Amino acid sequence: MEMAIDERYTLQSIIWRRRWTDKLLSFRIERPTGYRFAPGQFARLGLKPPQGGEVWRAYSMCSASTDDYLEFYSIVVPQGQFTPLLSDMQEGSRLMLDKRAMGFFDAYRLPPGKDLWLLATGTGLAPYLSILQDPAQWQRFERIVLAHCVRHPSELSYQAEIEALREHPLWEEHGHKLTYLPVATRDTPAGMLGERIPALLQSGALADAAGLTLAPEHSRFMLCGNPQMVEDTHRQLMKMGFRMSRQTAPGQIVLENGW
Ligand SMILES: Cc1cc2nc3c(=O)[nH]c(=O)nc-3n(C[C@H](O)[C@H](O)[C@H](O)COP(=O)(O)OP(=O)(O)OC[C@H]3O[C@@H](n4cnc5c(N)ncnc54)[C@H](O)[C@@H]3O)c2cc1C
Ligand SMILES: NC(=O)c1ccc[n+]([C@@H]2O[C@H](COP(=O)([O-])OP(=O)(O)OC[C@H]3O[C@@H](n4cnc5c(N)ncnc54)[C@H](OP(=O)(O)O)[C@@H]3O)[C@@H](O)[C@H]2O)c1
Repeated sequence: MEMAIDERYTLQSIIWRRRWTDKLLSFRIERPTGYRFAPGQFARLGLKPPQGGEVWRAYSMCSASTDDYLEFYSIVVPQGQFTPLLSDMQEGSRLMLDKRAMGFFDAYRLPPGKDLWLLATGTGLAPYLSILQDPAQWQRFERIVLAHCVRHPSELSYQAEIEALREHPLWEEHGHKLTYLPVATRDTPAGMLGERIPALLQSGALADAAGLTLAPEHSRFMLCGNPQMVEDTHRQLMKMGFRMSRQTAPGQIVLENGW
């Protein structure tokens, strides 16, 4: 039976915005009472364009599953239907929020291991910001490596917030486990990694930068971002002996396409 429209979504106000570059922004909306999600899941956000109708898009939650707001990190695609409207919205503007969180991009789909590798391009960083606020992940793994690959260094958003994660009182004693590896493939500053993630995996440069070895016995991977990057990284990891993790056959990789 089809649900009435007002049973499908709630209207939520934007309560905070931050612009990182002309193409990247973050925003928070009020979190409805009873809205539940697991770190790594996405929300569906809707807008009504001036010409009529509705546009709905998937957005990974960046905030902790315990925060009383929902935070999102967004690209602005000039020719897109959703993001130019989003870019013009101010605090107090309202968005539609589908009542159910969705998705299966979940660190718990990975069997226990020693090292958790969180590999992202662009806004594929978003789900990891939530996953890194799950105290259990800091206990499950000996090391967590977050590699964020962007074109230009100015697109390495959330650096201060990532640094601050180490000091969080809920997992402070484990804060040393996190290694953050920023990667900029264009205008790469001296000392920063500058190749795409699959190439860095193939050459061993990513493992070296983290001071770790990669092996199916102890390495676990999450991939999120540009679908071509997800595909190429998956293929490279397969060549190295890693496999997708499935319910019937636990492996070392879970992935999500960023669009
Ligand atoms: C599971 C899932 C989670 C997502 N989470 C996020 C998120 O947290 N943040 C976010 O900004 N987007 C996210 N997206 C993409 C988002 O749903 C929209 O596609 C995006 O906001 C652009 O909307 P649009 O209507 O302006 O353009 P669209 O018409 O939707 O996209 C136009 C083109 O822009 C490019 N594009 C779309 N999204 C991105 C992106 N994120 N980064 C780089 N290029 C892109 C693609 O080439 C795409 O074909 C997610 C998508 C999926 C499927
Ligand atoms: N960011 C910009 O300045 C800019 C400017 C104009 C238009 N756009 C458009 O905006 C959209 C989003 O741009 P974006 O920069 O956020 O995302 P993006 O194109 O996905 O690039 C983000 C990072 O992913 C890397 N990457 C791309 N394809 C890959 C692959 N197959 N394997 C591994 N890594 C890969 C890129 O490396 P490479 O640098 O090697 O590609 C870059 O480091 C794109 O559709 C783009 O056409 C962006």
